[in-house]
Amino acid sequence: MDQSQAGKRRVQVMDTTLRDGEQAPGASLSPAQKLELAVQLADLGVDVLEPGFPVSSPGEFQAVQTISRQLQQVEICGFARAVKGDIDAAVKATQDAARRRIHLFISSSDIHITHQLRKSRKEVVAAAREMTAYARQFCDVVEFTAMDASRTGMDDLIEMVEAVIQEGASIINLPDTVGYALPGEYGEMFRRVREGARGGNGVAYSAHCHNDLGLAVANSLEAIRNGASQIEVTINGVGERTGNCALEELVMALATRGDSLRAETGISPEKLYDTSRMVSAAMHFPIAFNKPVVGRNAFQHESGIHQDGLLKNRSTYEIMDPEQLGIPRSMIILGKHSGRHALKDRLVRYGVQAEAEDIEKLYPIFKETADSQKVVSDDQLLKMAGTTLGKP
Ligand code: KIV
Ligand code: ZN
Repeated sequence: MDQSQAGKRRVQVMDTTLRDGEQAPGASLSPAQKLELAVQLADLGVDVLEPGFPVSSPGEFQAVQTISRQLQQVEICGFARAVKGDIDAAVKATQDAARRRIHLFISSSDIHITHQLRKSRKEVVAAAREMTAYARQFCDVVEFTAMDASRTGMDDLIEMVEAVIQEGASIINLPDTVGYALPGEYGEMFRRVREGARGGNGVAYSAHCHNDLGLAVANSLEAIRNGASQIEVTINGVGERTGNCALEELVMALATRGDSLRAETGISPEKLYDTSRMVSAAMHFPIAFNKPVVGRNAFQHESGIHQDGLLKNRSTYEIMDPEQLGIPRSMIILGKHSGRHALKDRLVRYGVQAEAEDIEKLYPIFKETADSQKVVSDDQLLKMAGTTLGKP
C-alpha cells in the first residue's frame, strides 16, 4: 500500500443509477439493459446495487429478480415504500441474491408529512417502526431512509431514527431529497444525528444527495467528513430533476483529495469512462462537454499557456491522470488560443522536424485559420506545413 493510502476509511458505494437514476424523465431502461449495466457496475466495483423498484411494474420486478440471481458478487438492494405490499415485492424480487438488503423509506419532514402524507407525525413514526420490524422478519439487513431528512427538525429526525434503530434497521439514510442543504448544514446533520440517536452504535449512516443547487458532491463529501460510511450515487449524476450525486465525481474527489478526507472507495477508476459512456448511450442522455471527470473537455486543453505548461509537465494543469480513468490521453486542441509550443509538438508527433524559424513562419498562417474556425485539425496543420515550409 502506498503511504498516502494508509489509514483511510473505506466508504461503501451504493449505486442507484438503475433506480433513482432511472427516475430521470425519459431515462427508462428495459430489464435487458438493466442487466447489462448492472454487470458493468459490479465490474466497476460498486458495493451495493439498487437495480429498481420491484413493486412499480412487472418489468421492474423482473429486472431486480434477474439481477439478484445473476450478480452474486454484489449486495442487492430491494427498494420499497414503508408499506407491506412494497416490502413483499422487494423481498421476493431479491430472494435469490447472495447478499441483500431491504431499503424502505418514509418522509420525515413536516412539509412532506402535512402536504403529501396528510397524516400526523405520530402515525408516520408508528408506520416507520412497524414496517421496519416487518421487513426485518425477512431480511437481516434493513436500510431505512427518512425522506427529506435535510428539511426535518432535528428532534423529529432523531425520534424517527431512534424508532427504526430499535426495530432493527442497521443502515440509516439521511437524504437531501430536494437538493436544498448547504454543505456545512448537511455535514452537521450527520454529526448531530450520529451523536444524538440512542442505540446507534454499530449503525451505518448513508448520504444520498440531489443536485438542485449543484451541491450534491460537496454535500456528500461533508457527510463523509461527518461520519457517513455509505454514499448513494448514480453514474453521470443522472436522476430526478437535476440528478443525484455523480459517482465518478465523488469517487475521483476522494481519490484525488484523500489527503484531506482520509477516505477511499473500492471503485476501479479505469472503468469509469466506459461505464459513463454505456449509461449515457442506454438512457440517451448526452454527457455535457464540460462534465467533470468524463466530459469531452475534461482533459482537453486549448489555451497556449496551459498547453505550454502541460507539455513541460502534465501536473501543471491536470489534477487527475486521464489514462487512469480509461481515457486514452489528455488532448491538446489546436485553436486560436494555442501557442508555438503546441504547434511544434504536434508537428513533431507526425514526424515533421520543425525548427524555431519554421514555427515562426507557420504561426501567423495557423492563427489566421484558427481565427476563422473553432479547431484546427491535424490534417489542416500538416497541409499548412507542407505548403508553407515545403515539409511533408
Ligand atoms: O431522494 C430521496 O430521498 C430518495 C430516497 C427515497 C432514497 O431517493
Ligand atoms: Zn433520491
